[in-house]
Amino acid sequence: MATLTDEMKAVFAKNRIFSFATASLDGTPNVAPMSMVELIGDDTLWIGDNYMAKTLANVMENPRGALFFWDPDDKHCFQIKGSVAVKTSGPEYEQMRAKIKAKGAHYPAKGLLVLTVTAVFQCSPGNGAGQACA
Ligand SMILES: Cc1cc2nc3c(=O)[nH]c(=O)nc-3n(C[C@H](O)[C@H](O)[C@H](O)COP(=O)(O)O)c2cc1C
Repeated sequence: MATLTDEMKAVFAKNRIFSFATASLDGTPNVAPMSMVELIGDDTLWIGDNYMAKTLANVMENPRGALFFWDPDDKHCFQIKGSVAVKTSGPEYEQMRAKIKAKGAHYPAKGLLVLTVTAVFQCSPGNGAGQACA
């Protein structure tokens, strides 16, 4: 497990849409835009499943994912890798379902992906690019 610093959390807060990458067991990559992404504490992201197709299939057979977030003002960028648990019932799912339904009753709120951060890498251009930072 890895934890996000205050700086990383501040950069996270500047992003509205996240590119969420997964892979099937045979290694086929997939990336999809996700807006219902919440930072929970220092080491967990919640991603609301409304319309996931390949993303959901991938994490069911290969429970890992990655995303990045960046600061458009100074180009600071962090890439996160994590393990994924899929929840379609229970208190965490119900909490995310309420958040999603508050944004729009039409959202199906099929499930919740809990991404536990396992590593953080720099993705800013220049010195340190690609290096682990948590
Ligand atoms: C800006 C934007 C934000 C989106 N946010 C979400 C989201 O938070 N959750 C979700 O399930 N789908 C979201 N979607 C829809 C999925 O990205 C889309 O249905 C995608 O095709 C999923 O397919 P895949 O899982 O097969 O890659 C969003 C789409 C866009 C364009």
